[in-house]
Amino acid sequence: MLPQDDFLPINGTDYVEFYVGNAKQAAHYYQTAFGFQPLAYAGLETGLKDRTSYVLRQDKITFVFTTSLIPDSPVADHCRLHGDGVKVVALGVDDARRSFEETTKRGALAYMQPSVVADEEGQVVMSGIHIYGETVHVFIERRNYRGIFLPGFVKWEPHYRPAPVGLRYVDHIVGNVDWGQMDKWAGFYHDVMGFNQLISFDDNDISTEYTALMSKVMASSNLYIKYPLNEPAHGKKKSQIEEYLDFYKGAGVQHVAMETRDILTTVATLKDRGVEFLRVPDAYYDTLIQRVGSIEETIGPLRELGILVDRDEDGYLLQIFTKPVEDRPTVFYEIIQRKGARSFGKGNFRALFESIELEQGKRGTL
Ligand code: FE2
Repeated sequence: MLPQDDFLPINGTDYVEFYVGNAKQAAHYYQTAFGFQPLAYAGLETGLKDRTSYVLRQDKITFVFTTSLIPDSPVADHCRLHGDGVKVVALGVDDARRSFEETTKRGALAYMQPSVVADEEGQVVMSGIHIYGETVHVFIERRNYRGIFLPGFVKWEPHYRPAPVGLRYVDHIVGNVDWGQMDKWAGFYHDVMGFNQLISFDDNDISTEYTALMSKVMASSNLYIKYPLNEPAHGKKKSQIEEYLDFYKGAGVQHVAMETRDILTTVATLKDRGVEFLRVPDAYYDTLIQRVGSIEETIGPLRELGILVDRDEDGYLLQIFTKPVEDRPTVFYEIIQRKGARSFGKGNFRALFESIELEQGKRGTL
């Protein structure tokens, strides 16, 4: 793609903001379990009347947890309908005004008109557009800002600081969309955001006896941003995507994949701290090398931790998925280490889905 064709250059994921029922406790969980470090805070003490936000960071991953302080607000409404979930996927850009103009003129619905927020540390230009469900992209232009996070936030410095676990950056963010809506949203990312489709697979590839889905992966032209989009497909019983849509009450972010350079250490630490992972049947490991060829890791520790392996034409990847991190079976995390591979672990879908169906069976939602 020629540079002049990239009408929406994106520098990376700036932050992911969750609307939650109790931001104080969510922040504690992400510190304790996932090793995120306290960064910034905004709330009653900083002059806000209706909400509180905690900002946590691990290497290049920034999460914001926001809760409502009043019964009627967009944050409270979001939590009532969806439970805890992702509201904002913020994207770093050099020009937030142009990002807004280029996307809205191509059909994006405005969420936030371009606006300047400033304090003594400089200024940030922000704008935003709606995506699937009630989720939004906010464009953040922060080249003229030196502050800790955004204007209005103060440094958050609690004494409680569990160590990081080696998570480095957001590898990809997956959206679940409603029946028949995948092509619409893939088209949105292509037409409105200038993304291209990476790979595709149909429900024949990723159906098990019971559950099924279809998926397309859209990526920014510099490949910094990768968004797989899932829609449910018909199986004998309820698709895991349909289960998500039922509990989230519509489309939304299904999982955030976070990269590590050492998945064995990261996952062992996460387990010690109480993070629960999906587990594939042990037989998966008996035939692993036959399926993926030789790998640098020994099978024993992978089997013990339940880490999955997949190979594509560029190399291989190691990955594992947490169980949902809230009571509704909605948002979860993927931990991924890439050794050349640029795909998303399609070869693991069958084993994984059978494991998810075991969990769905326990929930009575198959
Ligand atoms: Fe993923």
